[in-house]
Amino acid sequence: MTYDVVVIGAGAAGLMCALNAGYAGRRVLVVDHANKAGKKILMSGGGRCNFTNLNSTPANFFSGNPHFCISALKRYRPEHFLELVERHGVEYVEKAPGQLFCADSAKEILRVLLTECDWAGVEIRLKTRIDSVERLGEGVRLATSAGTFDAGALVVASGGLSIPTMGASGFGYEIARQFGLQVTDTRPALVPFTLTSQWKARAEALAGVSCEVEARCREGRYREPMLFTHRGVSGPAMLQVSSHWQPGDEIVIDLLPGEDAFAALCAARQETPKRRLSTWLGERLPRRLAQALVEWQNDDGVLAECGNARLQGWAEALNRWRLKPAGTEGWRTAEVTLGGVDTSAVSSRDFAVAGLPQLRFIGEVLDVTGELGGHNFQWAWASGVACGQSL
Ligand code: FDA
Repeated sequence: MTYDVVVIGAGAAGLMCALNAGYAGRRVLVVDHANKAGKKILMSGGGRCNFTNLNSTPANFFSGNPHFCISALKRYRPEHFLELVERHGVEYVEKAPGQLFCADSAKEILRVLLTECDWAGVEIRLKTRIDSVERLGEGVRLATSAGTFDAGALVVASGGLSIPTMGASGFGYEIARQFGLQVTDTRPALVPFTLTSQWKARAEALAGVSCEVEARCREGRYREPMLFTHRGVSGPAMLQVSSHWQPGDEIVIDLLPGEDAFAALCAARQETPKRRLSTWLGERLPRRLAQALVEWQNDDGVLAECGNARLQGWAEALNRWRLKPAGTEGWRTAEVTLGGVDTSAVSSRDFAVAGLPQLRFIGEVLDVTGELGGHNFQWAWASGVACGQSL
């Protein structure tokens, strides 16, 4: 069968591209090997999909070429997606500044996309394995488990490597290599950290405890909540720094962000000399964490007895706690993939490959990765629209 456009991947970027190409009058087929469209949309944002971020800018993205994402993000902004969502009557909430989530369920976002695809005349074939992709004159030929499809253009929207059980595969990278494109190194990001030995036991004892911190790693610096887990540390602050972390790196955690712990301890010694360190800590941190810190430091002295050197030691532990993760939870739980199809041979306007305009790459399969907070979906929408409207 012949189509103007075949899109590989019925995820966020693929569906957005397909509906735009459909409205532009193209005959569009979307193929996916999964048994359901948009599985990652459904599981995103804890089932409520953080579908965009009103403050999203190109500075929220990592890429070997930081300029690549600018054009598409400028043309299709968060307000545009919000307008679409509102038109379909989806209720939403702003959970953190700029971060928009469905008030009810992520199913609403998938419903919007599938409804629009339907209106635009897009055909979607699920449970379809793609066996080969070949160049066919000015177009492409796909051999699949559902037969052979010829198309004027092929859009690869197969996503990254995270959560293989949800259908993730490296297929997009294979196609890129087949057609001579480079693929930059990939690694899991927005992923919890694992700890070993003593620190693992300490985290395990605190599993479920969460507090606001400022976490730093390399050039990344984030003030967000952190969470202790049975295997290590997680929560938005840790997920964010995981995008900067390299094996062997330490993370520096400020447990009292915005407060100079030494100055505050000295002031407390002056004002409340009989108070114990655990009492002082308990006013600033979750009780279980305050108690654990006293045990780790093996010090629950009365403030009046603490000399400056001792308080300096505490300030160091509170403002600059250095933690060396053993690793990350990996692809099993990572939200995104850092790295991917090298953008140097891809047009930032229409996502066509240089010298091979019938081949396009969009969404997470490209070497463009957003920070936590709705940026990754915004990239999927923006790249999908820019590509879909140009087909
Ligand atoms: P996506 O992964 O959505 O779609 C790719 C599609 O290609 C899939 O349907 C897959 O089955 C298909 N495919 C893969 N290989 C194939 C093959 N060989 N043959 C055929 N089909 C194939 N982002 C955000 O902004 N806000 C959020 O709240 C969250 N939350 C979140 C939670 C969790 C748990 C995860 C794992 C991820 C998030 N994300 C997120 C990230 C976000 O889900 C992600 O960046 C986008 O879904 C990427 O969209 P794509 O369309 O590029 O890939």
